[in-house]
Amino acid sequence: MPNIIVVDREGNEKTVEADDGLTVMEAIRDNGFDELLALCGGCCSCATCHVYVDPAFAAKLPELSEDEDDLLDSSDHRNETSRLSCQIPLNADLDGIKVTIAPED
Ligand code: FES
Repeated sequence: MPNIIVVDREGNEKTVEADDGLTVMEAIRDNGFDELLALCGGCCSCATCHVYVDPAFAAKLPELSEDEDDLLDSSDHRNETSRLSCQIPLNADLDGIKVTIAPED
């Protein structure tokens, strides 16, 4: 069961445990972070699950799809660590990953 460190928009850090196979978005949402809206439910069509991922884990993430890339471009807050959390399935390699919920667009 991977642990994820989630940093909310106020800078508060919380470690949550997630089942393998869940996405980072599901793990965040299921642990009471209401500020991550995830409006499309994980279909890669809303960008309200935008997070910044600790660069130490960049090489372990799935590749960015064209759709994800386009959606992230629609955010005013995109940076080089930006990902849509619904596009990151959790596995043992991602244990300890730190994600910060991006500001609302
Ligand atoms: S939940 Fe909509 S793009 Fe991730």
